Amino acid sequence: MAGRVLDARGDPIKNAIVEIWQVDHNAIYLAERDSRSDFDPNFQGFGRLETASNGEYRFRTIKPIPYPGRLAPHIHFKIRTPGHEPWTTQLYIKGYPTNQRDGIYRGIGDAKAQESVTVDFAPIKGSPIGEMGAKFDIVLGWTAKG
Ligand SMILES: [Fe+2]
Repeated sequence: MAGRVLDARGDPIKNAIVEIWQVDHNAIYLAERDSRSDFDPNFQGFGRLETASNGEYRFRTIKPIPYPGRLAPHIHFKIRTPGHEPWTTQLYIKGYPTNQRDGIYRGIGDAKAQESVTVDFAPIKGSPIGEMGAKFDIVLGWTAKG
C-alpha cells in the first residue's frame, strides 16, 4: 500500500508522520490482544513512518477484512504534520460488497467523497506469493509552502 501526502496545491509534504492500524486476519485489533488469545502474534497491527521528500509513504500489510460492527473493511490513518492538528481518515476497498451497509462509510457523504477514500486492491504482476497493491494519496487542505 503506497501513496503520497500532498497539500492543497498538490505539492508533496515531506516528513509527515503517517500512522496506520487495522485488524488482523481474525478481525482483532492490537489493542485487544490482551483479552483475545487468537490475535495473530506475527501481525504488528500498526505502522508508523515519515514521508520522503516526494511525500511518499509505503507500508506492507494485509488486505483489511470486516469485523463485528464494521461491514466495510478499512485501514485507519493518522497524519501528523508540524503546526497542524492530526488528520485522521480511513481507507476502504473498492468494490467491497458490504461497503454501503457500513454506517460510517455511508456517513462519508456522497459518492465522490466515498470515492476519495476507496481504493482498488490489484494483483501485483509477477508476485510469487499473490501480493496486491493499493495506491492511496492523501491530500491535506492547506499549503505546505508560502
Ligand atoms: Fe476500525
